[in-house]
Amino acid sequence: EPEEIHRRIAAAKEALGSRLVILGHHYQRDEIIQYADYRGDSFKLAQLAAGRPEADYIVFCGVHFMAESADILSAAHQKVVLPNPAAGCSMADMANIAEVEECWETLHELLGEDASIIPVTYMNSAANLKAFCGRNGGIVCTSSNAPAVMRWAFSQGKRVLFFPDEHLGRNTALKYGIPEEHMAVWNPKDPFAAADAEEAFERAQIILWKGFCSTHMRFSLQQIEKARAEYPDVKILVHPECRREVVEAADLYGSTEYIIQQVENAPAGTRWGIGTEINLVHRLAKEHPEQFIFCLDPVVCPCSTMYRIHPAYLAWVLEALVNDEVINQVSVDETTAHWARVALERMLAMKG
Ligand code: 13P
Repeated sequence: EPEEIHRRIAAAKEALGSRLVILGHHYQRDEIIQYADYRGDSFKLAQLAAGRPEADYIVFCGVHFMAESADILSAAHQKVVLPNPAAGCSMADMANIAEVEECWETLHELLGEDASIIPVTYMNSAANLKAFCGRNGGIVCTSSNAPAVMRWAFSQGKRVLFFPDEHLGRNTALKYGIPEEHMAVWNPKDPFAAADAEEAFERAQIILWKGFCSTHMRFSLQQIEKARAEYPDVKILVHPECRREVVEAADLYGSTEYIIQQVENAPAGTRWGIGTEINLVHRLAKEHPEQFIFCLDPVVCPCSTMYRIHPAYLAWVLEALVNDEVINQVSVDETTAHWARVALERMLAMKG
């Protein structure tokens, strides 16, 4: 059966020719990524979606928020397809527009006239949160440009509200020089649970949304200590969605594209303990047999939603496109798209 699916995908790709571009995120499984015309991290894929106006169809092998961003950034005539509409992102779902608006209003009531808050949303968020940022003088960031985005945000206002990833926000703020005492965490379920919550929000330069990536939460300081004890020469390379202690104990950290570049530029014999999604780690190990590459988490940890893009779905949507039938299109309404584009384009216009 895999042979048959392969044949169907190849035939549909051939029939569609330059009318089709397939984009693949680095976390996609090998059976999918082999068909991608371009691979990338979230930032690179957003750039690619904005820069391929010749294709009628962009088939996005990734997750829902990425396909939404591709729809927002692509030309009006282009249609974006997500092979399986159930490929969401549990972190993105941890912040919704009603909660963010409530947080925004509460903080402005609390801080009064001089609140001066710039909203920053991580790419891993719904289009209406990106639109919220566009409307309110804010911006989008990805893990490859978070430090530059934070610098920009602090040039625009006194405080930053960062959502939905608490950890990327904290790791980036620490790098920017903000001490932990000047950070506060907003738990949308119960923001004032702590006795000193009000003072913490008043004192904060950055307010971090309580959201996380369950795949990256699996990496721990203990795993790093164990790897270093076993292999004194090991280089630890992790994603900035990992918690603070993991990022601080690592030798290097960055986006998926950065992780790949580090491995590609390392000499033969380099030993890596990597803290990110397993499909990417396995692919790196396979493509670089001259190095020693292992995942820090001994238990396999795929991103369950990225994994929902299965070859059978890809075959199905591509064959439909051959017949001019668009299945599982991701389309953002024009008002939301307009303001989300404002926030995305602020990010794309920035220099690292
Ligand atoms: P990057 O590819 O930008 O590093 O993001 C990883 C991720 O969390 C995708 O959901």
